[in-house]
Amino acid sequence: RLLIIDFGSQVTQLIARRLREARIYCEIHPFQNVDDDFIDAFDPKAIILSGGPASPVADGAPRAAESVFTRNVPILGICYGQMLLNLQLGGKVESGHHREFGRAFVEPTGTGEGDPLFLGLFATGREEVWMSHGDRITEVAPGFEIIGTSPNAPCALIGDRTRRFYGAMFHPEVHHTVNGARLLKNFTDLAGFTGDWTMGAYKEEAIRLIREQVGDGKVICGLSGGVDSSVAAVLIHEAIGDQLTCVFVDTGLMRMGEAEEVVGMFRDNYNIPLIHADESDLFLDALEGVSDPEVKRKTIGKLFIDVFEKHATSAGGAKFLAQGTLYPDVIESVSFSGGPSVTIKSHHNVGGLPERMDMALVEPLRELFKDEVRALGRELGLPESFVGRHPFPGPGLAIRCPGEITAEKLEILRKADAVYLDQIRKHGLYDEIWQAFVAILPVRTVGVMGDGRTYDFACALRAVTSVDGMTADYYPFSHEFLGETATRIINEVNGINRVTYDITSKPPGTIEWE
Ligand code: XMP
Repeated sequence: RLLIIDFGSQVTQLIARRLREARIYCEIHPFQNVDDDFIDAFDPKAIILSGGPASPVADGAPRAAESVFTRNVPILGICYGQMLLNLQLGGKVESGHHREFGRAFVEPTGTGEGDPLFLGLFATGREEVWMSHGDRITEVAPGFEIIGTSPNAPCALIGDRTRRFYGAMFHPEVHHTVNGARLLKNFTDLAGFTGDWTMGAYKEEAIRLIREQVGDGKVICGLSGGVDSSVAAVLIHEAIGDQLTCVFVDTGLMRMGEAEEVVGMFRDNYNIPLIHADESDLFLDALEGVSDPEVKRKTIGKLFIDVFEKHATSAGGAKFLAQGTLYPDVIESVSFSGGPSVTIKSHHNVGGLPERMDMALVEPLRELFKDEVRALGRELGLPESFVGRHPFPGPGLAIRCPGEITAEKLEILRKADAVYLDQIRKHGLYDEIWQAFVAILPVRTVGVMGDGRTYDFACALRAVTSVDGMTADYYPFSHEFLGETATRIINEVNGINRVTYDITSKPPGTIEWE
C-alpha cells in the first residue's frame, strides 16, 4: 500500500482519488501523525508527500519524518513535498521569488529523457501543468537531477533515478494538469504497484473501520433522500446490523413525493429500522423571517441535530450519528489551519453542526467523491435508479428559495421543480446532467395571461454537468427544450409567470443558489 503524507494542501484528496482510479490502495495521514514508528508499522511500498500552504523555509515549517527517506521505497514529492524532499536531503530552497499560480508548460531536460516517470508523456515536447507555489528550489540535493523545467520553475521536476525519488513543483493530481494521472501512474508502476485494488476492497475496509469505531454502540443515521446518506446507511447496516437505526427527517423542505419515495425504497428493500419523523412545522417555524443563507443553513443544521438527539434516545441511547458527508462537503466547509481555504458554505452535515452535539460522528464516505460513492452504492447492491439520482442538499429547498421561505413559495417551487424534472426525464437527459432543479426567485414580475395581468414569481432553472461537484458547467439545453419547459411551467404552475435559465458555471457561481 501507498502512504500519502498530508501537509495540508486543498487537493491532497485528489491524489488519493487518482490512485483509486488506477486501482491502487493508499491512505492519507496528516504529517503530525506520521513518525518513524508509524511508518514502520504502515510499511509503505511507496510514499507521496503532498503539497501544503506553509513555506518550507519558514520557522517551524512541517517536516517529514526522517525514515521516509531511509526506507528505500520510491518517493514522490508534490509542490511543498518536492521542496521538503530536496531540503531534507541536502538541497536548497528559497522563498518568495516568483509566485506562480495556474497554467504552465513543462519540458523534459536532456537528463530526463527515458526516465520511467516520463513513459507516454511529452509526446508534443511539453506538458501542460497546474502550478501553485511561492517558493522554489535553488540547488538540487546530492544525487538529484533536474529532469523537467518550465520558465518560472526551473526545477519543475527533479529526480534521483537510482533511489527512485522524484519531486514535482506542479500538481499532477488536478484535472488541469492534463496528463497528471499518467505521471502518477508511472510513479506507482515504477514502485511496483499492479493496480488490483477494487471498490469491493474499499467496502470491506470501510466496514472494518466502522466496526472498530462503533464497537457495540448504537448508531442513528439521518437519511436525506440523497445517494450519500443512503449509501452510508446501507454500508453501516452491513457493518453493524441492527445497531443502526435510520431517521428520515421530513423537514417540509423536500421535493414533491420525495418523502414517500425514500421511505418506500428503504422499507421495501432493506430491513433497517426506520423512523419517519415529520418535523415540517418545526423547521418552517424556525425559518420564518430568515433570509440570510448562512443563518438558514445553521438553523437547519441545529434542528437536524435536535431531532436526531430526540430519536437517539428512542433508538436505545445512540452514541453515534452517521452522516453521508463527502469530501467536497468537507473541503468547502472547513478552513484548514493556516491554509488558504475559506468557508464557502456551511454544508449542514459539516460546518453547520452545533458545537454542543453529544454524539460522535460516523462518516464513512468522508474521503470519497460523488462518483465513487455511486460505485460503492452499486457494490452494495442499491438499485441503479437510486444510485443515479441527482444530488439533493441537506438543507433541501430552503437554499433554492433565496430570501424568506414561506409555505406558499415552497409549494410553487415543488410544482415547478416536478415539471422541470419531468421534462428532463422525458427528453432522456436525466443521466447526462449532474444536477437539475428550480430556484424560486424573491421577485414578482408582471405578465399577461389570456386577457389578464399577472403579478407572480419568477423562477430560474438550473442544470449543470460536473465530475465531482467541485467545478461545474451549465448544461447546454436546446432552445426548443427551454421554450417548451418554460411554457409548461407557466401553464401548469399557478404563481409563476416568468422562467429564466441560469448559465453560470462553478466557479464563479456555485451549483446551489445559496
Ligand atoms: P455548491 O452549491 O456548493 O454545491 O456548488 C455543491 C454540491 O453540494 C451540494 N450541497 C450540499 N449537500 N449539504 C449537502 O448534503 C449541504 O449543505 C449542501 N450544500 C450544497 C449541492 O447540491 C451540490 O451537489
